[in-house]
Amino acid sequence: MRHLIDFGDLTRQEWDEIYKRADKIIDNPQQFLDVCHGKVSANLFYEPSTRTNFSFQTAMMRLGGSVFGFADPNSSSVAKGETLKDTIKMVSNYADVIVMRTPWEGAAKAASLYSDVPVVNAGDGGHMHPTQTMADLTTITRLRGSVDGLAIGLCGDLKNGRTVHSLIKALAKFQNIRFYLIAPRDLAIPQYLRQFMQEHHMPFVEVTGLETVIPQLDVLYMTRIQKERFVDPLEYERNKGIYILTRSKLDRARENLLIMHPLPRVDEITVDVDDDPRAVYFQQARFGMFARMALLSDLANQPRMTPAPVEIGTKPVCHNPRCITQTEHYLPPLVKKNGGVDCCAFCDAPL
Ligand code: CP
Repeated sequence: MRHLIDFGDLTRQEWDEIYKRADKIIDNPQQFLDVCHGKVSANLFYEPSTRTNFSFQTAMMRLGGSVFGFADPNSSSVAKGETLKDTIKMVSNYADVIVMRTPWEGAAKAASLYSDVPVVNAGDGGHMHPTQTMADLTTITRLRGSVDGLAIGLCGDLKNGRTVHSLIKALAKFQNIRFYLIAPRDLAIPQYLRQFMQEHHMPFVEVTGLETVIPQLDVLYMTRIQKERFVDPLEYERNKGIYILTRSKLDRARENLLIMHPLPRVDEITVDVDDDPRAVYFQQARFGMFARMALLSDLANQPRMTPAPVEIGTKPVCHNPRCITQTEHYLPPLVKKNGGVDCCAFCDAPL
């Protein structure tokens, strides 16, 4: 693995190695204090973040490395109109690894085409968030012993929730996973992921009600309605507050249920659930830091490599208004197949 853009790009063996290292770090953090000594991470956050930004920063510090970057792109030359390509060329002059979060789908993939150092996708719009998935898988494995054979409920904004998209990609690498996809019709899972689950023989049912499926679940993965992704504010108003997990709704849930959430939460889990021993979302965020330590200990230590030249594009071929190709017109017109359908290689939207 050179870059981490989409969890689907990792082999199961690569993930197992990262998990094994994360597991060791959790139990013996003092053995890893100098693993990134002298290494520097650039954290480019074009969108707000608490967990991902801080956990990547503290992960690098706990490995003996250091961090620079921005949490507001207006404090950099992005505000003067610098392209993503030029920003990445510059930052990869200074850093050993680049961690980036953006509102544009496919931006980390675009950055990886021009970077001399590994790029990590720390969330690209409503598309993917692979290191959140590392936090999620680490949580499930540490607390349940295994990810195989679980019935997993994904609840909330499944259309815009990048954490859910990455998690589905990752779970294809495990055995006998069953999904309950709990979402209003407006916010149902994207078609390319439905096809992905079918291709990978992952049974799923799509439902709109939460309470009826809770008793079936081993993991309930709640997500917030992603207000910032709605083009139509009325659509957000129609859907906000649609799922609220309360203590009483858990009466019929399994005793060993894991209640997970990538956070931040708005109102989809009431505060009285926090004290239920099945609620593991704060632990999940801590496991995320250890999983990111395991990832950085590999990527930040890789040699610099000049990327191969890429074709220069002239206009976007993708019609997704949130795709990075809409603003960075020099990007090559890369196409990939998803379930036999031509899709944008940056954001996965069908062409
Ligand atoms: N889970 C997650 O990505 O949280 P932040 O947006 O705070 O980084």
